[in-house]
Amino acid sequence: MTTVLKLGGSVVTDKETPETVDDDALDRVVDSVADADVSRLVLVHGAGSFGHHHADKHGVTPAEGSRDAAGIWAIHDSMRRLNDGIVGRLQDAGVAALPVHPLSAGARDADSTLSLPVDSTATMLSEGFVPVLHGDVIAQSGAGATIISGDELVAHFARALDADRVGLCSTVPGVYDESGEVLSRITRFRDVAEALGGADSTDVTGGMAAKIRALLDLGAPASVFGPDDLDGFLAGRSVGTVVDG
Ligand code: IPE
Repeated sequence: MTTVLKLGGSVVTDKETPETVDDDALDRVVDSVADADVSRLVLVHGAGSFGHHHADKHGVTPAEGSRDAAGIWAIHDSMRRLNDGIVGRLQDAGVAALPVHPLSAGARDADSTLSLPVDSTATMLSEGFVPVLHGDVIAQSGAGATIISGDELVAHFARALDADRVGLCSTVPGVYDESGEVLSRITRFRDVAEALGGADSTDVTGGMAAKIRALLDLGAPASVFGPDDLDGFLAGRSVGTVVDG
């Protein structure tokens, strides 16, 4: 059984203060992972108050690349420091966490198609480690380097590793319908297009509509849930909104 779990950047960082980990929130997440009995777990984390402001400053998005090595490194370095912090705390709690940095191994072609070998992650899993990936910058043919979001990594690894379960833990308890209730299940985009407002929000790496479309395409059930449901998700329960195309 392989599980891919994304920790949204705003779950583990203080979004108001640049480059600040939300210590209490991260401790709770780390405790949940340490206490859970999950055999093959891949973790992916987003940027929160790391990464995004460097990306804004240097004008780098998933669509707009840059050839400024110093700027690209500033974005990557910020994500790497957040990753160091998360991996370190997981190890302190007894989790066999190891970092995986997408910039070092992946690339996009000119059409934005991602190529990112999963051998290191797959071997870590079979050796009992917990690989911890992160949103990053990635070299792109004809564009320098662009942003790769944690969500894109989740989709890529879930497919390539044939994951059985996918979880996206963010600050909202699930996907809301028009009346503000959390939907328990989504099986078709057209059922929720209106509630999601059709067009994507201004978030450079996606917004909820793009997230749901990508999840419907995954081939594995994906749960969108808030931090309070993390223990339940790791225990195998159906939590938040289950997206299953
Ligand atoms: C963004 O990743 C990565 C960078 C800006 C380098 P995500 O888009 O997955 O981050 P969050 O979870 O929304 O913060």
